[in-house]
Amino acid sequence: MSSNTSMHGHWKSRWLFILAATGSAVGLGNIWKFPYITGENGGGAFVLVYLLCISIIGIPVMIAEVSLGRMGRQSPINTMKALAKASNASPNWAIIGWMGALAGFLILSFYSVIAGWALSYTVDMANGDFVKISVEDSGSIFTSLLANPIQLTIWHTVFMVLTIAIVARGVNAGLEKAIKFLMPVLFILLFILFGYALSSDGFTQGFNFMFSFDFNKLTTESIMVAMGHAFFTLSLGLGAIMAYGAYMPENTSIAKTVVIVAFLDTAVAIMAGLAIFPIVFANGLEPSAGPGLLFQTLPIAFGQMSGGIIFGTMFFVLVSFAALSSAISLAEPIVAWMVERFNMSRNKAAAIIGISAWTLGMATVFSFNIWSDVKLFDKTPFDFLDFLTTNIILPLGGLCIALFTGWTMSQTKIKNEVGIDYPLLYKLWLFTLRFLAPIAIVAVLIKGLI
Ligand code: PFF
Repeated sequence: MSSNTSMHGHWKSRWLFILAATGSAVGLGNIWKFPYITGENGGGAFVLVYLLCISIIGIPVMIAEVSLGRMGRQSPINTMKALAKASNASPNWAIIGWMGALAGFLILSFYSVIAGWALSYTVDMANGDFVKISVEDSGSIFTSLLANPIQLTIWHTVFMVLTIAIVARGVNAGLEKAIKFLMPVLFILLFILFGYALSSDGFTQGFNFMFSFDFNKLTTESIMVAMGHAFFTLSLGLGAIMAYGAYMPENTSIAKTVVIVAFLDTAVAIMAGLAIFPIVFANGLEPSAGPGLLFQTLPIAFGQMSGGIIFGTMFFVLVSFAALSSAISLAEPIVAWMVERFNMSRNKAAAIIGISAWTLGMATVFSFNIWSDVKLFDKTPFDFLDFLTTNIILPLGGLCIALFTGWTMSQTKIKNEVGIDYPLLYKLWLFTLRFLAPIAIVAVLIKGLI
């Protein structure tokens, strides 16, 4: 059934897989979303639950998802079909692939709009619009961007075109080269920002906000958001990392590789939070400002530092690239499937997905202006898409991946694949996959939805 090669290409080495997987994992979720949902959910206790979800659910499921990908070597839909067949299990397990492809498409539609904000800020930064800016002006620049559907649409279009152009070129061309350079630079810039935050008046307050655990602030909904975000930030549960696993070289330990990726991803999120919250407190801003948090706070810091125009521009360029390397992985599962299923060129498949996701993305563009009163289950179209995918579909995908790997796959095969050298550790992983993760996911979903 499975072969050692994929028709879509391969990462040339283990490090390139790490880079690509980190490129997929590190994105708007870490830099934009993690700080703002931490702010909305009261800080410390939320961060703790998020870290728990990464370790107890995220890492074990990620190991499983990459392994399934490498065993199947096809798009997630066909990988799941093939693995189910080989295990004499129901072909319905392909639902993992289908749900994931759908979620990837839905997320791509709004991800592109938010990434467009970063593109727009890159230009504003380079123009010097934020030099010595006041807190109020920073707020109003953001508000007027959101109020302008035409501008949002232009940037959404630019971002989607870039994404699709890269996906169309395939695994190796362009992408590998770009992330090899960009990821390290992003780290360095985050360090610089962290250094700035460290010297600001708000550092202690920002630090305490993130790390003092006040469980009174934790609601059932926050727990659900923390778990959903653990999936979102690791690009889990929708087949993105399964698709990338399909292009992974043989003979590299999946488990060790995954731990590195999860560590890097978490480090970027924590650093982003530590860079943003001190600025929030030093300037008397609200941590619960919502999706605008990053865009309203960091420009104030860049506006005050010397060399701020250069650092600020670089920062938003890097955020845009981090978003780009995540967006391509959102499109990959469904594009790879279309290539396999309809024998069509990558170009054509990528174009079809790009145009459709762009069109749906307009619902997100309008959520911030002319449709701000349109509500689905009490949420704007953007909030609804985000909630449905992140908090429901991804955890369900993760649940199915855990159950399939833990209970249905041949254990000898899995054991050979994952590369966990220590028997005890392997048992622990299997136990987590069979019991701990599924029970936790189901409990949080049920509580959160009721
Ligand atoms: N992990 C990405 C981020 O944190 O921005 C978003 C993402 C990419 C989610 C790919 C899911 C996915 F499959």
